[in-house]
Amino acid sequence: MKANQNYYHLTASEFEWQVSTEKTIKAWGFNQQLPGPTLKARKGEELIVKVTNNLEQPTFIHWHGIRLPASMDGTGEVQKPILPGEDFEYRFIVPDAGTFWYHSHANETEQMERGMYGALIVEEETDIIQADADKVFMIDDMKLTAENEFTKPGWFIPRIIERHDGRQGDTLLINGKENPIIDMAAGQQERWRFINAASARYFVLHLNGKAFKVISTDGGLLEQSRKVTQLLITPGERYDIIAGPFAEGETIPLESLPYNRVTFLKPKQQQFATIRVGEQKPTIAVIPENLRKIELLAPRDASITRKVKLSVGPSLKNGMDFLVNNDVHVNDKPVNVGELQIWEVNNASLMDHPFHLHGFFFQVLEENGKALEYLAWKDTYNLPPRTKIKIAWVPDNRPGRWMYHCHILEHHAAGMMANFDVV
Ligand code: C2O
Ligand code: CU
Repeated sequence: MKANQNYYHLTASEFEWQVSTEKTIKAWGFNQQLPGPTLKARKGEELIVKVTNNLEQPTFIHWHGIRLPASMDGTGEVQKPILPGEDFEYRFIVPDAGTFWYHSHANETEQMERGMYGALIVEEETDIIQADADKVFMIDDMKLTAENEFTKPGWFIPRIIERHDGRQGDTLLINGKENPIIDMAAGQQERWRFINAASARYFVLHLNGKAFKVISTDGGLLEQSRKVTQLLITPGERYDIIAGPFAEGETIPLESLPYNRVTFLKPKQQQFATIRVGEQKPTIAVIPENLRKIELLAPRDASITRKVKLSVGPSLKNGMDFLVNNDVHVNDKPVNVGELQIWEVNNASLMDHPFHLHGFFFQVLEENGKALEYLAWKDTYNLPPRTKIKIAWVPDNRPGRWMYHCHILEHHAAGMMANFDVV
């Protein structure tokens, strides 16, 4: 094996997983861990991942955010399902540093809900950020019965509610555990990589009002670090922050503030973990203010090349359908390699949708006619009700079939998705 290759073997199966001392669930996941193992590589290296499927149903594995060849994207559009008892080898170069993740892309509302996901970290070639520790936090929630079992909503009304709101449960998880204790030393600054792997939950990171620095999102480092006290992370999105320094003996709840995304469920403030600050330790942290330069793809007034409308419409069979350009599971027009894309994505509905584009990063040029405060590479971006964004992206030379969809898994399943070809 060459030095610049990273080989992993992931086996998908059902297994017993303890989310807390009182709760054991029948999870579906990789290598009997929830989340699955964290895969690591350096920017520019090759990743080879053999996936063995020991579940009783077919699966695909999608590499969310990686700019890989279309044939490796892990959807039903580009490969045959990995059937029970079979395996498939994914092989691709990771061209960008950042916080990525992998997850099932088959029967997602069940497979992902039960735990079929893990982190994929691509390190920068040079260590721009020197933190005292580097930690991954995968956010999730599960909706379980009193017996801690996964159930599908049976009756029409609960089914309609889950289809509308997405599935949200009260078992709140960070890295597969309920309210874990996170230890850190006083005086240190750690890099925390957040990945929202939940079906539908909007997570608003809050550290009891303490300021933290946002340094990176879906497509890697921002231009400058940003100091905030709260941060919305919607399903599919990633943000890296610098946490600390905190004082010895402090206990800080890691919480999500309420976010009103217009659902039947009432938004609540909820605790996901507890940070316990121990003894003071020497620090090596070097976190520059300026992180890198991002080149703007297009001016704000660039003319629109495609309109994508997200909406919700009534449906006799399902109560409601989730639509792209007034239809479900759409085939959109192809785009040409190298041709700058300026898309208007219009959320004409009365609820939020995190828009996700497979395989490519985009820049948000404006939101409701206003420029964004800062430039970033995104692959997932939330649209509140009645919001229009203008995004710019370039299909580089990776022809094939791609897709975009809402990352609320129930909306995706209910039709809010489209395929298109890069030609
Ligand atoms: Cu995480 Cu089709 O996406
Ligand atoms: Cu949606």
